[in-house]
Amino acid sequence: MTMKSVLIRAYGSNEQVELADVARPVPNANEVLIRVQAAGVNPIDWKIRDGAGQRMGKTLPIQLGSEVVGTIEALGAGVDRFREGEAVYAMVSSGGFAQYAIAQANHLARIPNNLDIVHAAALPLAGTTAWQALFDEAGLSAGQRLLITNSSGGVGSLALQLAKVHGAHVTAVASGRNEAFVRGLGADAFIDYTREPFEEAVGDIDVVLDTMGGETFQRAFKCLRKGGVMVTVVAFPQDEAERFGVTVKRSATLPSAASLAQITTLVEAAKVVPHVESVFPLAEVRQALALSEAGRTRGKIVLTVSH
Ligand SMILES: NC(=O)c1ccc[n+]([C@@H]2O[C@H](COP(=O)([O-])OP(=O)(O)OC[C@H]3O[C@@H](n4cnc5c(N)ncnc54)[C@H](OP(=O)(O)O)[C@@H]3O)[C@@H](O)[C@H]2O)c1
Repeated sequence: MTMKSVLIRAYGSNEQVELADVARPVPNANEVLIRVQAAGVNPIDWKIRDGAGQRMGKTLPIQLGSEVVGTIEALGAGVDRFREGEAVYAMVSSGGFAQYAIAQANHLARIPNNLDIVHAAALPLAGTTAWQALFDEAGLSAGQRLLITNSSGGVGSLALQLAKVHGAHVTAVASGRNEAFVRGLGADAFIDYTREPFEEAVGDIDVVLDTMGGETFQRAFKCLRKGGVMVTVVAFPQDEAERFGVTVKRSATLPSAASLAQITTLVEAAKVVPHVESVFPLAEVRQALALSEAGRTRGKIVLTVSH
């Protein structure tokens, strides 16, 4: 049996991205086959297309797509926590932009009962990233002062809400056009990075979540108190811990049913609400990737998949 899947046969621009007919995968032991209904688009997808796939140990051709929402089509041997037909979501190691995708059973969670599939698709990768960076890596606790360097994107907009639920005081850095958005998500303080250097506007921060990288990551150290924690999901730290007298962590997101289940609970309690800016059909994947790459997305971009 064949299916539609988005793949690249060589690294490069969107010219390399094609919607191809490929063999429908078969789940191995401890895997499930998901009939995909929607798939979130993330910067990692165009970074892999650009060449990061090589650094990550992937081999061409690569099927793109890192998170899916859908129903369980088939169960591999040894999977007994789920049933065929159940609505689930997960991070996947590749092949999320397709009609069917394979996920590890221990990466899967049932989708929140109060979200449609498009909004559910905004959660697995960005939500897990925010959760693991804030709580598993930085150990953020109630009452601490958190600064998020890019609080309007997919990761930052969820991190902001998760941090508020956990009782942190959140300073959101974003552009002025996103002020109402991030304040609506619960930001206690807001800095428009287009108007002033954010590192001169705030200090004595306990934890910085860096979702921007580059020179923003470097400048954000000025905001931290001595002994504070910098957690970045973008930069590759060098000697900043010694230079600034802080703890520095690089958080690499690991697919996890446990992280996703905790996020699901908060979504069902209406304490966390994903925001989807744009929706494209799978056939318009190039436009979706180009929009993500432009770097201006508020919340997330989602692809819908028809059968
Ligand atoms: N380590 C991991 O495992 C992991 C996991 C997930 C994501 N990531 C990485 O984390 C980064 C963020 O991902 P994402 O999905 O949240 O990105 P995103 O959604 O594409 O971020 C877009 C947002 O960034 C804002 N922005 C642009 N320039 C900014 C600046 N100088 N300062 C503050 N905000 C700015 C944009 O609004 P304005 O233009 O209006 O400001 C837009 O709202 C990416 O590099 C991604 O690859 C890493």
